[in-house]
Amino acid sequence: MESPKAIIFHLLTALLDSWSTWNTAAGSSEAGRRWRARYLEITFGCGPYQTYEDLVRQAARDAGLPETAPTALLQNWDSLKPWDEVSAVLKKLKEKGYRLGVITNCSRSLGHRACEQVGVDFDVVLTAEEVGSFYKPDPRAYASVIDAFNLKASDVFFVAGSSGDVVGAAEAGMKVIWHNHVGLPARPGSNPILHGRTLKEALVDFL
Ligand SMILES: *[C@@H]1O[C@H](CO)[C@@H](O)[C@H](O)[C@H]1NC(C)=O
Repeated sequence: MESPKAIIFHLLTALLDSWSTWNTAAGSSEAGRRWRARYLEITFGCGPYQTYEDLVRQAARDAGLPETAPTALLQNWDSLKPWDEVSAVLKKLKEKGYRLGVITNCSRSLGHRACEQVGVDFDVVLTAEEVGSFYKPDPRAYASVIDAFNLKASDVFFVAGSSGDVVGAAEAGMKVIWHNHVGLPARPGSNPILHGRTLKEALVDFL
């Protein structure tokens, strides 16, 4: 397989275990999963820009959770933890000379704070808010991070966490690798070149 010139990551599922943080805020993993699933439902191609925080609150209401759940999630934001293998895998990729980036749907503040929890120096970190308020899978969100590297989409690999990115990043012209840690169902049209239940398994060809 040819080598990419840069690897761009989805943040909140591919690198960080944000699911545990949602579950804790929701009070149970069942409620957390229901809330997160609702979030992904209402936000996939969600039309006019609304803030990430508002969407998190709306999804909680729709899923029948009390207002205290989104409040707790936003308060506990700095307790996000990377999946076990993430730091070792990213360090190895850096040693091998790959440039690493992140494009996340978050607000500027939440996105950069979450990125700090990964504990690795990324070459580029962009949030939906900074790229002109376009959420993925809007192609403009992916295009801005590819442009920030000054590369062509075909030179860049995208490591997806959630199912929406698997389709969206491929439509933006990147090769997609799916780190599907939580076992999400695939969306129609999803065709990642590699996938794995851990980041190490998904990226083993590059380590
Ligand atoms: C964010 O990105 C994912 C792709 O990972 C997408 O499916 C989701 O619905 C997006 N929107 C928001 C507002 O989070």
